[in-house]
Amino acid sequence: MATNIVWHDGAIKKEHRYTMLKQKGATVWLTGLSGSGKSTVSVALEQMMFKKGYLVYRLDGDNIRFGLNSNLGFSAADRKENIRRISEVAKLMGDIGVISTSAFISPYIADRVVAREIHKKAGIPFVEVHVDVPLSVAEQRDPKGLYKKARKGEIKNFTGIDDPYEAPIRPEVKIDTSQLSVNECAKAILDYLVAEGIIQ
Ligand code: PPS
Repeated sequence: MATNIVWHDGAIKKEHRYTMLKQKGATVWLTGLSGSGKSTVSVALEQMMFKKGYLVYRLDGDNIRFGLNSNLGFSAADRKENIRRISEVAKLMGDIGVISTSAFISPYIADRVVAREIHKKAGIPFVEVHVDVPLSVAEQRDPKGLYKKARKGEIKNFTGIDDPYEAPIRPEVKIDTSQLSVNECAKAILDYLVAEGIIQ
């Protein structure tokens, strides 16, 4: 924990950057089980916003764990730190003026509350999207073969199997990728962002 530190303001505020970029920063936070479709939907959403002319950036669970969070595992404490760091990164991106999509299991309500608070303090919109599919569907998809390994006990603390997933109570958007196509799910999020005036 750092002590004796003092915040130093710059002369260029986020509003100046927003004017320059002709957009405002925001974070779309997708949470859901492994195999729920978070990454697939966020890729589609990123493309839709990019085509509309927005500067967007995708933060993704597996990818971030190759770099920034390569020292973190899947204990509750490590997942908490994973989500805290990503939240700070997403906040900085929002401060720049970037609209980021964050696709992380983020299984704990308390950690997502922290993510929301970090954004609230910075005045950056935070849109929580629950990518909601039944565990049976995610397990049947099993795109990386991880559920199979978890069932065999080869992976410990696997979300949904021997580790918890706490569903959001009041997410801004809820999508079910077993009922709607990827594009329909991405469009539902896009429509919410337009309705809220985050994009046009
Ligand atoms: S978390 O819970 O938000 O910190 O997880 P996240 O950073 O999103 O990373 C999830 C991806 O890690 C792989 N993986 C696991 N997931 C859950 N539990 C365990 N134990 C685990 N071990 C590895 C898995 O590929 C997840 O990717 P997705 O895209 O969610 O399937």
